[in-house]
Amino acid sequence: MRIPLIAGNWKMNGTPAGAEALLQKLAKAAKGRAEMAVFPPFTAIWQAEKYLKGTFIRWGAQNVYPEEKGAYTGEISPDMLKEMGCSYVICGHSERRQLLGETDAFINRKIHALFRAGIVPVLCAGETAEERRDGRTAAVLQREIEEGLRGIDAADAGRMIIAYEPVWAIGAGQAASAEEAEEAAGWIRECVFRLFGREAADTVRILYGGSVSSANIASFMQKPDIDGALVGGASLKAEEFISIYNRADA
Ligand code: PGA
Repeated sequence: MRIPLIAGNWKMNGTPAGAEALLQKLAKAAKGRAEMAVFPPFTAIWQAEKYLKGTFIRWGAQNVYPEEKGAYTGEISPDMLKEMGCSYVICGHSERRQLLGETDAFINRKIHALFRAGIVPVLCAGETAEERRDGRTAAVLQREIEEGLRGIDAADAGRMIIAYEPVWAIGAGQAASAEEAEEAAGWIRECVFRLFGREAADTVRILYGGSVSSANIASFMQKPDIDGALVGGASLKAEEFISIYNRADA
């Protein structure tokens, strides 16, 4: 049985003062069956640990550098995040692929480095509007998953979280339909099955991300291959994020 996950990607939002207020409100959320996790910027991860430790809510980082330590100015290692209590790290978000030129091969190195440190990666995959128009969605997802997970063993693959995030729905105010999201989640699960076998395909958690709100979360959660959501904008308002969590859990 896969435990649903509602994850909040704060992106580059939340100064220390703002993060404190948001985390204090989130810490009061009532635990349901689903899991909740937040991904603040690096500068607020210590606050996540301070306010969320001892609650049911987990926290993670939005990025990592795939080396243990050394001369990598400006970068953060898996062990640093592990020591700050991070359970998860987002890899391959389309904003980083597009704005920072991250490749599948580089994302793959991050995933290996995270597993070595005992952190579960959240791999984002998704097509652009143009790729969808050209009927290339399944092929894009297959490439991002095959190359992102290259060399990972089946047990680790089964522990992964994969977020289907159509680029055209991110920050757009208009989410994919639950049917579009389910079709893509099905392709992703099928891809994991082909690469890693039945058990990994049954246990890997697949999230939908892209303009998720309290108004549409229920439609995604009804779909059998969707195990939760990666929420951007709506995760910055405590009431809205808790309401998404509660509806996902209902
Ligand atoms: P959004 O972002 O919910 O603001 O569309 C989702 C994401 O980028 O993870």
